[in-house]
Amino acid sequence: MPATHSPFSGVVALDGPSGTGKSTVARRLAEQLQARYLDTGAMYRAATVAALRAGVDLSDGVAVTRVVEAAKIEISTDPQSVSITLDGEPVDTEIRSAETTAAVSAVSAVPAVRALLVDAQRELIGDGAIVVEGRDIGSVVWPGARPKVYLTATPEARARRRAGELGGDVDAVAADIARRDRLDSSRAASPLMQSTDAIELDTTDLGVDEVVARLVELASAAAS
Ligand code: DC
Repeated sequence: MPATHSPFSGVVALDGPSGTGKSTVARRLAEQLQARYLDTGAMYRAATVAALRAGVDLSDGVAVTRVVEAAKIEISTDPQSVSITLDGEPVDTEIRSAETTAAVSAVSAVPAVRALLVDAQRELIGDGAIVVEGRDIGSVVWPGARPKVYLTATPEARARRRAGELGGDVDAVAADIARRDRLDSSRAASPLMQSTDAIELDTTDLGVDEVVARLVELASAAAS
């Protein structure tokens, strides 16, 4: 029987910057593999909502860490019903707001916040059978993931996709993407980078179905 017909029992790491189509393909891949799905970016976003609500100075790493430590972030790993709560309250919409998006790089740059969330992510990954998307999954969170894929796309394609999803002007979205890339790549703790053993997949000229098909192949090869 082809490997895609039996549930996938491993861990797929899908890393890369925003606008590469990561979330859409990660969820679809999890469905096809009959696996779970973990959006680690949503966890950094929920931590950011907690920090914003507490009104702490985002440049004060100690204060931000205290808030995140006390926050109860719960995320579902069902690809067909993604949801995240903060202290028991759904924050699915709030984590995507412009205010949260503008603040998330500062919160995710705090090493102690990363340590807390990486621990939580490892616990959620547990025994596997999961597709995990983020920035540091193959490099830090789960170096044993197979396959490890790093999605890329040209800055123009990424800005076009983000503007399509969120609405707004492509140039403004492109400027925001460039700003977040700079912050995410230059932070001291687990900067966004491609693991040397990750397979790079450029999605610029590929549709969602093509990317998912390629990932299913890679996952099947890793499982056999
Ligand atoms: O994938 P996203 O845009 O929802 O991620 C939100 C932010 O969280 C992004 O600016 C980078 C950060 N992030 C991170 O540092 N590490 C991860 N594993 C996932 C996201």
